[in-house]
Amino acid sequence: MGNMRSNWILGFVLASFWFSSHSFLLSNDYYEKSCPSALAVIRSEMNVAVAKEARMAASILRLHFHDCFVQGCDASVLLDDTPTFRGEKTANANKNSIRGFEVIDGIKEKLESDCPGVVSCADILTVAARDAVILDGGPYWDVPLGRKDSRSASLDEANSNIPTPNSTLLNLLGKFLLQGLSATDMVALSGAHTIGQARCTSFRDRIYKGVEGAESDNVYLSELKGICPQTGGDNNLSPLDYVSPVLFDNAYYRNIINGQGLLNSDQELNMYGSITSEVVQKYAEDPLAFWQQFSDSMVKMGNIVNPLTFITGEVRKNCHLVNE
Ligand code: HEM
Repeated sequence: MGNMRSNWILGFVLASFWFSSHSFLLSNDYYEKSCPSALAVIRSEMNVAVAKEARMAASILRLHFHDCFVQGCDASVLLDDTPTFRGEKTANANKNSIRGFEVIDGIKEKLESDCPGVVSCADILTVAARDAVILDGGPYWDVPLGRKDSRSASLDEANSNIPTPNSTLLNLLGKFLLQGLSATDMVALSGAHTIGQARCTSFRDRIYKGVEGAESDNVYLSELKGICPQTGGDNNLSPLDYVSPVLFDNAYYRNIINGQGLLNSDQELNMYGSITSEVVQKYAEDPLAFWQQFSDSMVKMGNIVNPLTFITGEVRKNCHLVNE
């Protein structure tokens, strides 16, 4: 009996690895016949959204990341709390922070009218994140498609899996490795911080307590202190890459080398003698190498599949709620 149970568990674990590491479950032309307008609709809606507010590109990219790190890329992050359902929106990393839901809703609405019940919210978010990068002048990559939307979410996993800005390098590495992502993937994906903004509460410790290797230029530090006082102003914003905040370039890595990464976690990547610091150096010198690896790592992150969702998942009618 015990043997049967352990065989069953072993089978499940092996199946999980098999599913999560096999992107061939997804395909680039998944909607070619069932919803030929899907990619064009997502692109044009993202165009409008980013033209209306430049930051939206960054916000959508981050939403996708927070989705994928919790039970795979299954749009669990988009689910609302209801009296009978607990979603991920109140997790520490998400509360008062993640944004862009209305853009995904707008895309979903158009696609439900073009091809009802066909395009998953998880795929919409994954493609929208790719388009966000392009709209900020970054690289193009093909997005494998065919994800299903979850019927569950996990607040606990959101709290434990999504990295926090004051984590140590070891802690950050652990959270990426748990998702099957390497140190190189982590450094490349952190390059997403070449766009977007952070709230004072996310970088207060970094500017008042300091961090090893971030002996930053006094002008930059005093500007940050102006935006982010020791008490109050928690929601005041500063660009993650102050040199080119809406351009998807490699300035983020040069900033880190100059001790001007905004978050502790950004500076941690350059910890003296670490493997990640060599990668930071490489991307600071070679923007194309950064783009290439970022594209590959985004595909890898986008392919984190929850095996359960793959079996029990659905195409939600409304990205905020599971289907009845
Ligand atoms: C290495 C671990 C990471 C940590 C600790 C981290 C942490 C953070 C924090 C604290 C913020 C600011 C949130 C706020 O103050 O409201 C932020 C913003 C952002 N993060 Fe990360 N992040 C990490 C990796 C990533 C990855 C892998 C991506 C995407 C591939 C990403 C994309 C973004 C973007 C685009 C923003 C700006 C969002 C906006 O302006 O709305 N981050 N991140």
